[in-house]
Amino acid sequence: MKIVLLGAPGAGKGTQAKKLVEKYSLPQISTGDLLRAAVAAGSQLGKEAKSFMDKGELVPDSVVLGMVEERLKKDDCKKGYILDGFPRNTAQAEALDKMLSSLNMSLNAALSVDVPFDDLMKRLTGRRTCKSCGQMYNVYFSPSKKEGVCDKCSGELYQRDDDKEATIKRRLDVYNAQTAPLMEYYKKKGIVKSVAGTGSIDEIFKQVCSELGLK
Ligand code: AP5
Ligand code: MG
Ligand code: ZN
Repeated sequence: MKIVLLGAPGAGKGTQAKKLVEKYSLPQISTGDLLRAAVAAGSQLGKEAKSFMDKGELVPDSVVLGMVEERLKKDDCKKGYILDGFPRNTAQAEALDKMLSSLNMSLNAALSVDVPFDDLMKRLTGRRTCKSCGQMYNVYFSPSKKEGVCDKCSGELYQRDDDKEATIKRRLDVYNAQTAPLMEYYKKKGIVKSVAGTGSIDEIFKQVCSELGLK
């Protein structure tokens, strides 16, 4: 199963991807996570990416495409994967199509997680993430039992640098201008599925599995 997750910042792409990883052992390829790892490692790529991420802008396609191509060639992608946060504009979607055809792969679905615009700000300002295992929490909707500590692994929770109000606003604008048009792109290919991204995370996950035809 090869899936692209579509949805605005804060829609719950990462949250649902992690549940798919747990249940179906598909690798999650999150370009945001890969870029944040490069930033944390202090690599050249990370340094280049950080200035764009801090402004809420897209990192240049040349940087992201190389990273994705390298990842898709790894053995664990043969059985499928979940692309989370990629592609992000039409140029990336076209480049992905080329990449996939050269690897003899094709997408099964582009699954859109739809959340009303007004809910996204609170989701993003409230998000906390575990430094050790990546588990996501939300101080408003799904807090950890102990503040600042991961329920799963006792790791430290942190707030993403780009989850500040001004940066979130820019990310949402960039999404509307550059990423939202991908719905049309994948509709033309006839592979769009969608779920309402509001309600409990488990309920949404049931819908996700049912839309994808997974048991
Ligand atoms: P990226 O990391 O991809 O961020 P994003 O698209 O802005 O999306 P988020 O990760 O913020 O949201 P999400 O949908 O994953 O939501 P989550 O599950 O965490 O990108 C960051 C930056 O990297 C970009 O701005 C750009 O600079 C760069 N970048 C990345 N990819 C790129 C690319 N391809 N090209 C160029 N640049 C790129 O959930 C959010 C919160 O809501 C959490 O707290 C969660 O607990 C909570 N939540 C989840 N579900 C529910 C629910 N049902 N009810 C209540 N709360 C919920
Ligand atoms: Mg995410
Ligand atoms: Zn943890």
